[in-house]
Amino acid sequence: MSGGGARGLFVSFEGGDGAGKSTQLRRLAEALRDEGRDVVVTREPGGAPGAEEIRRLVLEGEPGRWSPVSELLLFNAARRDHVERTILPALARGAVVLCDRFADSTRVYQGAARDVAGAGPLPGPDLAMADALHALVIGIEPDLTLIFDIDPEVGLGRGVARGGEELRFERLGLEFHRQVRARFRALAERFPDRCRIVDAAGEPDAVFARVRAALAERLAEV
Ligand code: TYD
Repeated sequence: MSGGGARGLFVSFEGGDGAGKSTQLRRLAEALRDEGRDVVVTREPGGAPGAEEIRRLVLEGEPGRWSPVSELLLFNAARRDHVERTILPALARGAVVLCDRFADSTRVYQGAARDVAGAGPLPGPDLAMADALHALVIGIEPDLTLIFDIDPEVGLGRGVARGGEELRFERLGLEFHRQVRARFRALAERFPDRCRIVDAAGEPDAVFARVRAALAERLAEV
């Protein structure tokens, strides 16, 4: 982890909806535990009791339930709780933390325009606001970020097939999800040291081999 002097390894899993990252994360956790490692599996929004309450507020209901900046603040409130109560303690004891989404999701989903307008005299959301807030209240980045990359038409088909209540973001449409993919790719260029793009197309076994390859180098350091 950047800063803080922790000894574990912090890995975030990022990408568009339905890229299969959650399945790959569970599989990696199992493989690492079989190797005798201490593994903590967690997710955002959520990953601690208070943050899970905020998860319900942001993921359920209609797309217009929150203004974009209110939503950005809620994700950061959840993240702060999660980092303090789950991630930092796990890293301090030397665990490998596998986190389903982290701050890059906020940069991608909240840090760019859905409807860019601010509310009256208030500023609208943008990437600079997301970055500034992150620097102010979170301040840490993962050691490694795997960005699962897939054509959103394929990815969204997977998500809708899965069903459930948490479809607020999946309802935003194909064009939005194309932009999400482009923004994740841009983040990989902006943070080349920690980000690796994983081709998420094809059979789960093939994707898992790509995940293991991306991780191998970092694991040797723990
Ligand atoms: P998640 O439960 O990981 O769903 P999926 O399995 O489809 O990836 O995430 C739920 C949604 O939350 C997802 O559409 C992205 C959104 N999200 C944000 O908009 N900002 C954030 O900071 C995070 C962590 C998630």
